[in-house]
Amino acid sequence: MRAIAYSEFGSADVLSLTDLPDPHAGPDSMVVEVRAAGLNPVDYKIRQGHLDGLIDTHFPAVPGWDVSGVVVESGLDTPEFSVGDEVFAYARKDVVAGGTLAERVAVPVRTAALKPAALDHEQAASVPLAGLTALQVLRRLGVTKDSCVLIHGASGGVGSFAVQIARHLGAHVVGTASDRNHDYVCDLGADHVTYGEGLVERALRSCPTGFDVIADFAGGSSLDNTVALLSPTGVVGSIADPRARTEFGGHYIWVRPDASDLAHLARLIDDGHVNVHLDGVYPLQRAADAYRELEGGHTRGKIVVTIP
Ligand SMILES: NC(=O)c1ccc[n+]([C@@H]2O[C@H](COP(=O)([O-])OP(=O)(O)OC[C@H]3O[C@@H](n4cnc5c(N)ncnc54)[C@H](OP(=O)(O)O)[C@@H]3O)[C@@H](O)[C@H]2O)c1
Repeated sequence: MRAIAYSEFGSADVLSLTDLPDPHAGPDSMVVEVRAAGLNPVDYKIRQGHLDGLIDTHFPAVPGWDVSGVVVESGLDTPEFSVGDEVFAYARKDVVAGGTLAERVAVPVRTAALKPAALDHEQAASVPLAGLTALQVLRRLGVTKDSCVLIHGASGGVGSFAVQIARHLGAHVVGTASDRNHDYVCDLGADHVTYGEGLVERALRSCPTGFDVIADFAGGSSLDNTVALLSPTGVVGSIADPRARTEFGGHYIWVRPDASDLAHLARLIDDGHVNVHLDGVYPLQRAADAYRELEGGHTRGKIVVTIP
């Protein structure tokens, strides 16, 4: 099969279109014919060698954990799905090797759900990792109706889902995003969007007693103003900055593959509560360019690679 692979850590230049053996279904996996694969920053952080102590990479490594496609081979005991089912998955495994930027991929059933009917494969491939992250973080931080929630990085892959889910839960949502994305984040459902100098004063106009929840999906300096922004009983969580736990007593969160959470996301999408925005769609052979765009750090929504 054709796949994008790399045999050493490095920039997007190490990625090349390669022929690799077809994967086989393990006892609790199925083989999915990939129609589209979603890109995430973790893919390039792994490829650059930054997560080498956390997760092993076996070369040649195919990047990618997000997929939407069709089941073409069942495992020994995978009654949840049948050949021909259209599925999407956050197909993370314990080692980086056979990823989703390939014509076929082995997908553990615990990471998969039926594709939302409302989405095509390109859109569906953009959902799993980022959508699950948003859902699991908002749940961990206890967002409910009328919570006052500040979402850093509201225009990115995770932030775009988080704004919509928080809004659906009935929260009052303020997002941070650069100026060019303010209308986009408001359209997602944020009540107010701000950024840069004067952020604290402007954000507190929406929630004068401070935020019940601060969810950081951007990292960098986003959490610097946390003490000024958080209400005395508020909680902070981050997926990109450990200071959320070490300095602010909150949560530093790592998303988990979870089939029932993914099915819940599919229902939110099919019921019209969550939508996806694709910033870029690239053919498989241009995967390196797709990653270069993502590595710019200012994606609006998601980038996917398609396999015709
Ligand atoms: N721990 C986990 O489980 C987990 C899961 C998913 C992602 N992550 C990490 O979380 C981060 C975001 O992931 P993603 O997929 O959403 O990335 P992404 O799609 O590349 O989005 C990044 C967003 O961050 C915004 N941004 C950049 N600098 C900012 C700043 N100083 N203040 C506010 N916003 C800023 C950008 O928006 P503007 O262009 O509008 O500035 C951009 O839209 C990445 O570092 C990723 O590796 C961790």
